[in-house]
Amino acid sequence: MDAFKGTAVRLVFFAFLTRYALSQEYFRMGVNTNTAEASQFLREYDREASGMCYRVTMSQWKFVTNITEYNRRRMLEELALSSKFERLSWRKAAAYDSSRLSDPQGRRQLMKIVQASRAALPDDKYSEIQQLISEMKEIYNSAKICPYGQKPYDPHIPRIPYSNEYQDMNQGYQLANQPYQHYQPYTESTESTYCDMQLDPEISRILAHSRIESELLYVWKSFRDQTGPKLRNRFMRYVTLANQAAVATGYRDAGDQMRAAYEDPSFRASVEEMYNQIQPLYKQLFTYVRRKLVQRYGVTSVRSDGPIPAHLLGNMWAQNWKSIMDLVMPFPQSPNVDVTAEMLRQGFTPLRMFQMAEEFYTSMGLKPVPPEFWRGSMLVRPAQRSVQCTASAWDLCNRIDYRIKQCTEVTMQDLVSTHHEMAHIQYYLQYSEQPQLFRDGANPAFHEAVANAATLSVYNLPHLQRVGLYQNKSHDPYEVGMNFLMTMALEKVAYLPFAFMVDQWRWSIFEDGVQNMNSRWWQMKLRYQGVTPPVARHEGDFDPGSKYHIISDQEYIKYFLATILEFQIFEQLCSVSGHTGHLYECDVYRSRDAGRVLSEIMQAGSSKPASEIIKSMTRGKTNRISPEALVRYFRPLELWLRVQNRDEPLIGWSSNYHDVALFAPQRGSSQALTTSCLFIALSLICTVL
Ligand SMILES: *[C@@H]1O[C@H](CO)[C@@H](O)[C@H](O)[C@H]1NC(C)=O
Ligand SMILES: *[C@@H]1O[C@H](CO)[C@@H](O)[C@H](O)[C@H]1NC(C)=O
Ligand SMILES: *[C@@H]1O[C@H](CO)[C@@H](O)[C@H](O)[C@H]1NC(C)=O
Ligand SMILES: [Zn+2]
Repeated sequence: MDAFKGTAVRLVFFAFLTRYALSQEYFRMGVNTNTAEASQFLREYDREASGMCYRVTMSQWKFVTNITEYNRRRMLEELALSSKFERLSWRKAAAYDSSRLSDPQGRRQLMKIVQASRAALPDDKYSEIQQLISEMKEIYNSAKICPYGQKPYDPHIPRIPYSNEYQDMNQGYQLANQPYQHYQPYTESTESTYCDMQLDPEISRILAHSRIESELLYVWKSFRDQTGPKLRNRFMRYVTLANQAAVATGYRDAGDQMRAAYEDPSFRASVEEMYNQIQPLYKQLFTYVRRKLVQRYGVTSVRSDGPIPAHLLGNMWAQNWKSIMDLVMPFPQSPNVDVTAEMLRQGFTPLRMFQMAEEFYTSMGLKPVPPEFWRGSMLVRPAQRSVQCTASAWDLCNRIDYRIKQCTEVTMQDLVSTHHEMAHIQYYLQYSEQPQLFRDGANPAFHEAVANAATLSVYNLPHLQRVGLYQNKSHDPYEVGMNFLMTMALEKVAYLPFAFMVDQWRWSIFEDGVQNMNSRWWQMKLRYQGVTPPVARHEGDFDPGSKYHIISDQEYIKYFLATILEFQIFEQLCSVSGHTGHLYECDVYRSRDAGRVLSEIMQAGSSKPASEIIKSMTRGKTNRISPEALVRYFRPLELWLRVQNRDEPLIGWSSNYHDVALFAPQRGSSQALTTSCLFIALSLICTVL
């Protein structure tokens, strides 16, 4: 073990010297340059890894579609085996000097085995970090709060319409490759409960539907009380271990290691630039929404040129604002598109919805799903057993068996979700001929981006008219269009600053250490999202711990990129299909040309860098992810918002001393005092700029 560590240190040094010369391949490398041996290893790896993947994924499938103690134990056993296999393979792969291998695909495969793993840690620390992560998930998942004002929870508050796209609690398609996480049986609450309210569904429903400020504040704060403080110490230890693993693999820190998957040496600058490009649109939306909140809650609650208190936006993390559509609808006299009633009238069934989704893709010349799909999938909630209902698409790693698990109900939300999950299945089918290591999106953002690009074409009026679900009922098309764009903006545009700041914060913790974690979190929330905590926060509160992806070790920047990339892909599809006019009215149904572009993106899997795939997708115009398409999509709404905001004193927000004092580092020693003053001064400058 000691010799092993010694080598690691030298390798890190070597990696530093050569990182720019070798571009992305700056992780740890061994000395074996025997190409024949390496190819032999990769052939064996491909076979064994596919087999291992099948067993693990099948055991996960059995568990989430039939939650029993027995199935849970079986799954944990398989996961333990798979973790052992990962460590073993990592050691073998890390023995090769991949930079010397002549075969570029082999080089890339070795890189993928070594790059993202923590297997460089010694055994005890490797187990420790896994144990920590699973304890943190456990604590998070068991967080419960008491009902507000001791009144029992009312199960008749309407159920939140289920949206798969940003219900990123448990991103479905990834289950196949990821160990046990957040499997929580979905149980409809039918009786009053006491101190038994969970994030999903009770707390989320209150945040979405209650308009009583004190109740919102109560659930916002109580959920944080039940998570952050219990997670903080474990999280700090996790940061130490994750950094050690990264350094032993050849990276500067764990954030550096997470970013490597994007194969872009100027990645941080690129995402920052993207944020800056969407900021003017965000500020217009923000300003309009703030005025509506001032009208609803009064200036004592929301300052008319200030940031927005984070508990008033309909969501625990202020990341998705669609639940407050009732407060901000542009034309309340015109409808918001919802074809649920029409689907019911036409006697839709879950099966028909899936057939319709399949036909959407085959109409573009893409692949039908195999018979195994219809045999194996779980399309409705079964009556006799407990299941986990989050919609997800599964690749069982044997090139035949693909499945969807969704407790489908006949609603428009679920119709959209059906098309979304079917897009993941299409992705699996398209890259099925790639080796196991390349059966994935071109970078971590691609799977979601492609699935959402397809659904942008489904969830729009022209498409719903084409499939006979929407009749023109002589409503003003402009008003209906603005209502539609506002719904989309509350979901996508409002989400971007949040999706951006989560990993900005995480990277800064990995890079600069764990002091003042909570005030840095709020400083970034204020700077990028324009939100403040509704009550004073302290270091011990550890508010980042209220976000599942932080404590469950899942990177987040992919959601920021996916949201931007989905519009970029969508615009390309629309352009080759010959669409003219507003982007938000484009439908690529039945376009073989759009199908060809999609299959080209998907077939490559992750065998090529994302930049190459974007380059061929855009016919050489660019090799980067760019928010221009997203901004164009929302242009008609942005113009409308500018008119609404013309009398506003400030587009965006300015923060004052009181805003910043809510989360400034605590005074304790004179040093802390100095830091805190400096911190306040800096925040003011930053946010005023
Ligand atoms: C659910 O799992 C149990 C094992 O715990 C098994 O006996 C049972 O047959 C399974 N039910 C179904 C419907 O697959
Ligand atoms: C719907 O009807 C209105 C008036 O009857 C008309 O102005 C509008 O163009 C129609 N919209 C579509 C999409 O057909
Ligand atoms: C994208 O293309 C530019 C030149 O057009 C090149 O300098 C850059 O390295 C490319 N980026 C990536 C990530 O390949
Ligand atoms: Zn998805």
